[in-house]
Amino acid sequence: MTGFTGFAYLISSICFIMALRGLSHPESAQKGVNFGIAGMALAMVTTLMMSSVSSYFIIFCGIGAGGLIGTTIAKKIKMTALPELMAAFHSLVGLAAVFVASSAFLNPETYGITLGTGSLIEMAFGVSIGAITFTGSLIAWGKLQGTISGQPVSFEGQHALNAVLGLGMILIILLFCLTHSAFFFWVIVAMALLLGVLLIIPIGGADMPVIVSMLNSYSGWAAAGIGFTLQNNLLIVTGALVGASGAILSYIMCKGMNRSFLNVILGGFGGESAGPAQDLGDRHAKIGSAEDAAFIMKSASKVIIVPGYGMAVAQAQHVLREMGDILQKAGIDVKYAIHPVAGRMPGHMNVLLAEANVPYDDVFEQEDINRDFAQADVAYVVGANDITNPAAKNDPTSPIYGMPILDVENAKTVLFIKRSLGSGYAGIDNPLFYEDNTLMLLGDAKKMTEDILKALE
Ligand code: TAP
Repeated sequence: MTGFTGFAYLISSICFIMALRGLSHPESAQKGVNFGIAGMALAMVTTLMMSSVSSYFIIFCGIGAGGLIGTTIAKKIKMTALPELMAAFHSLVGLAAVFVASSAFLNPETYGITLGTGSLIEMAFGVSIGAITFTGSLIAWGKLQGTISGQPVSFEGQHALNAVLGLGMILIILLFCLTHSAFFFWVIVAMALLLGVLLIIPIGGADMPVIVSMLNSYSGWAAAGIGFTLQNNLLIVTGALVGASGAILSYIMCKGMNRSFLNVILGGFGGESAGPAQDLGDRHAKIGSAEDAAFIMKSASKVIIVPGYGMAVAQAQHVLREMGDILQKAGIDVKYAIHPVAGRMPGHMNVLLAEANVPYDDVFEQEDINRDFAQADVAYVVGANDITNPAAKNDPTSPIYGMPILDVENAKTVLFIKRSLGSGYAGIDNPLFYEDNTLMLLGDAKKMTEDILKALE
C-alpha cells in the first residue's frame, strides 16, 4: 500500500466515523449520509487507482449492475419492509466474504499475499462468519418476508447439535491451519452454512429485527477478518465499525425490551398476530367514535401523541401531523412521545415522523416526556400497544415485566387507536384497554385519524 493510498483510506475511515456520528440524530442524519457517500466514493476511487487492478471493464460492470439494482430497490422499498431488505443485503455481504476468502485462498499471489498460519486463521474466521451470515440472513429474510414460516422451528437436541457443530468447526479450523488443506477449507464453509440455518430457524419472525441487527454485526466482523487476510486497513476499520455498531444496536434493542440476548437467541417470545376481540375477565372496554375523540381533544389543553407499530403499518404519520397542526393552531400544546423500541427497528417512529415533517422540537424521547403524561389531558396512542402496557410495571409474571413503558395511563383520557382488542408483538393482553379513563377507537390508524381530523375541522 502506498503512502497516498494509506492517507486516502484514513480520510475514508474518518468519513465513516463521521457518518455514524451524524446518523445518531435525525437532524444530522442527512449530513451523516453525505459523509458515508463521500467516504465510500473516496475508498472506491483509491482502490481503483491501485496498480494491482487488472480489468476495469469487469469492475465497472459490477458497479453498474449493483448500483442499478440497489437504486431501484431503495426507491421502491416501503419503510415497513426495511428489516427484510437489511437482511437480504447482509446475506450478500456474507456471500462476498466467502467469495473473497475463497479466491484469496485459491490464488493468494493475485492478492499479493502469502498464506502463513496467521493469515489462514484470519481467513478461516472471515469465511466462517461470512457463511453463517449468508445463510442466517437468508432465513431471516424469508421469515420476515413470509416466504418461509415465521414460527420458531425447533427439535429435540437442537442446541446440543449447534454446540457440537460450533466445537467441530473450531477443531476443523485448527486442522486447516496446521495442514493448509483445501478439503478442510470447504468443510469449514459447509459447516458454517449449516450453522447459519440452524442458529436462525428456532427464532420467531417477531424477534427478527434483533437478529437482523446481530447479523449486521457478524457481516462487519466477517469483512474485518477478510481485511486482515488481504492486509487492507480500510476493510479492517470499516468491518470493525459495522461489527461494533451492529452489536451496540442489538444491545440497545434488548435493553429496551428488558430481555437478554440469550433469551432472544433461544426464541419463543410472543406472537405477532392480532388476536380476536376479547375482554379481560368481566371487564369491558369502552368503545368510542371519531366524533367522541374530536370532542375530547377540542376541550384539551395538552395532548401527547404516542405512535407505535400500527402507525407504520397504516402509514398514518402524514394525517397525524395534519391533526397535530390543527390542534396546535387551536392553541393546544401537542407533543409526540417516542419509546426506544416502538415499531420494529430502532428509530422507526422518528424516521416516519420526520418523513411527515413533524418538527423535531415536538418529538421527545421516553425519559424526557414520561413525567408529562400526568399533566396531559389526552394521550393519543396510535397503533402502539406493548410500549404502553402497565403489566410491564405491575405484573412480575408478565413476559415484558421490567420493560420501561410510556406512562400514558397517567393522562386524564387515553384515546387508543387500533383495529381490535388483540395483542401486539409480545402476544399479551393490555389491561389499559379496560381502564375507566381509556376510550378505544377501533379501526385502521390512518382512517380513524382522518375521521377525527374531519370532525375537528
Ligand atoms: P405492538 O406492541 O406490536 O402493537 C402494535 C399494535 O398496532 C398492535 O397491537 C395492532 O393491534 C396495531 N395495529 C396494527 N396495524 C394497525 C393498523 N393498520 N391500524 C391501527 N392499529 C394497527 O407495537 P409497539 O407498541 O410499537 O411496540 C413495539 C413492540 O415491538 C415491542 O414489544 C418491542 O419490544 C418490539 N420490538 C421492537 C423492536 C424495535 S428496535 N423497535 C425490535 C424488536 C421488537 P390491532 O391488530 O388490534 O390493530
